[in-house]
Amino acid sequence: MVKAKRRAVTSSQRVAEQKYPTAPKRPSSPGRGHAAVPSRPATGRADPVTPVSHRALDLSVAIGRGLVLPNPILVASGTFGYGTEYSEVVDVDRLGGICCKGTTLKARIGNPPPRVTETPAGMLNSIGLQNPGVDAVIARYAETWATWTTPVIVNVAGESVHDYVEVARRLDGVPGVAGIELNISCPNVGAGGLQFAIDVGAAGEVTAAVRRATDLPLLVKLSPNVADIRPIARAIADAGADALTAINTLSGIAIAQGRGRPLLGNIYGGLSGPAIKPVALRVVYEAAQAVRIPVIAIGGVTDLSDVLDFFAVGAVAVQVGTAIFADPTLPLRLVDELAAECGRLGMTSYRDFIGTALPKKAGQPSSKGVEYRP
Ligand SMILES: Cc1cc2nc3c(=O)[nH]c(=O)nc-3n(C[C@H](O)[C@H](O)[C@H](O)COP(=O)(O)O)c2cc1C
Repeated sequence: MVKAKRRAVTSSQRVAEQKYPTAPKRPSSPGRGHAAVPSRPATGRADPVTPVSHRALDLSVAIGRGLVLPNPILVASGTFGYGTEYSEVVDVDRLGGICCKGTTLKARIGNPPPRVTETPAGMLNSIGLQNPGVDAVIARYAETWATWTTPVIVNVAGESVHDYVEVARRLDGVPGVAGIELNISCPNVGAGGLQFAIDVGAAGEVTAAVRRATDLPLLVKLSPNVADIRPIARAIADAGADALTAINTLSGIAIAQGRGRPLLGNIYGGLSGPAIKPVALRVVYEAAQAVRIPVIAIGGVTDLSDVLDFFAVGAVAVQVGTAIFADPTLPLRLVDELAAECGRLGMTSYRDFIGTALPKKAGQPSSKGVEYRP
């Protein structure tokens, strides 16, 4: 439950305001850029709602290089296809942004089945980046994306710096492509299979190379599968990324019941869903203190309180992933609920939620997971 004390202005929040200016105000139209405030408080409580005029409420956020999200609720890569699959059931133009499915230079058929399994409070997937390749993605979807007001950010994956650069180059200047999100949780074939995301040098190198190849806004997605996220976050920011997104899935294994063998065809899968939210909170908390570029949070968002928790640890926006499989309308509901919550608290911008849980001075990370002291 969100309490009014969240409004208290802290020094870290003032820092957040300096770091993450919201976009210049634009004329609003219902459902385009500025969400309407629903008459019912999102929390279901009967507290008096301070009316905030639709015009006064600004949910937009500037990510960098001219990319302005109309609101801070996006859909996560791999959980919303290319957007077109959902456009019949969801008004995609009311989303803050769409991160499309992972896209590679050449088509990929993905991993052998089974590819997904449920886990307590989450799921494991090993889709293996099945996609038709960047040229086919552009040919099939970009024209439609160009008709949407919602920014479409293409999630890019590769097995070498060359792969990433080439995909970025082909996306550069394509109408309908608003930005790139680098999925660097991929093995770098050139470096013997070491993931780009877990190596400071490789993470910086691939970011810098893509930065040189495109003027598109560049988001880089962090992996939680590291001991200390801060040097990696800094290397990516120093290499020219406009924003960080965090987190990708956690590496895991499921055993087939009664068979004593790995369940997934690929053995390993990526864990997502509510189970990973505390890890995502920790990574965002540490990354937000390490860099001065915006951080967009991902990991287990299922309701408004999750969104507000991520704002508290410094995220300027959130992506909804696994929860979309259960309810594709959730992201839009969250936009409305966030607007309602701002209205209830008499806020004219959701920015006041950002960074309230951050310490005044950046502290040491607690990423070892063994620091339990009774
Ligand atoms: C089925 C599935 C496919 C995914 N595919 C991608 C992908 O192609 N690229 C990527 O960067 N992340 C991918 N992800 C990770 C999500 O974008 C997100 O980072 C992760 O699931 C955590 O968020 P969540 O707990 O809200 O699902 C995928 C996740 C799922 C569940």
